[in-house]
Amino acid sequence: MTLLLRDEDLATAFDHAARGYDALVAANPGYHAHLRRSARRLGLGLPRRGEGMRVLDLGCGTGASTAALAAALPGARIVAVDASAGMLERAAAKPWPDGVTFVRAAAEGLAGAGVEGPFDAVFAAYLFRNVSDPDGVLTTVRDLLAPGGRLGVHEYALGGRRVDRAVWTAVCRGVVQPVASVLGDGELYRHLHRSVVEFDTADRFAGRLRATGFDAVRVLPLPGWQTGITHTIVGRRPRTENGAEA
Ligand SMILES: C[S@@+](CC[C@H](N)C(=O)[O-])C[C@H]1O[C@@H](n2cnc3c(N)ncnc32)[C@H](O)[C@@H]1O
Repeated sequence: MTLLLRDEDLATAFDHAARGYDALVAANPGYHAHLRRSARRLGLGLPRRGEGMRVLDLGCGTGASTAALAAALPGARIVAVDASAGMLERAAAKPWPDGVTFVRAAAEGLAGAGVEGPFDAVFAAYLFRNVSDPDGVLTTVRDLLAPGGRLGVHEYALGGRRVDRAVWTAVCRGVVQPVASVLGDGELYRHLHRSVVEFDTADRFAGRLRATGFDAVRVLPLPGWQTGITHTIVGRRPRTENGAEA
């Protein structure tokens, strides 16, 4: 039996969870600070930064990752996309700097929703283990990036040690799932636990980026209880077709 939710079922579960989402993540030590750190890591090494640069926030949820991008890359034009109407509605209701727009779309259907490149950077926080075809979405993202543009993935992607998995399971079973069950979101947060356990380790996911044609791929740790559990994985669309520096 699998406890994983996909596509419409997952969007419906996030619609329901939207109401309690901000309170749950606010109780997670380091959640917002870690997103800001990953967003700054994404900004490092970009060919151009600031006014006018275009950034895609894929799976923006209630806007926590969007806020991290707006702080790390002031002046950027941010297109924030999510498949869940409920999550997106919460995000859009918040105050945002000029240049931030929200689009309802699945990561697998961006072109149909009018989301077009080129982007200077793409950020995906807690998205990839939720999509049914991560390699397909990685290919789409690579093609949406301008040459030299960067992808930053912020994800619960385990480090590969037994203790990483044990800590993750203890946090989910001991803290997250009891609270989520009270909110009526038990199914989504059981999915959260399984989706991490069944997804790539951080190094394996980095391998997917390389196989999709990204270069300058790096796996970077995050501190706190998320050590060995949450990582930033960055990569770059090569500056030239054959990967050689222009
Ligand atoms: C765990 S939340 C993270 C939200 C936000 N990035 C953050 O850091 O707080 C994951 C979000 O990804 C969205 N999502 C999941 N699968 C998706 C897909 N295939 N296409 C677009 N959005 C998706 C969900 O609706 C949800 O809002």
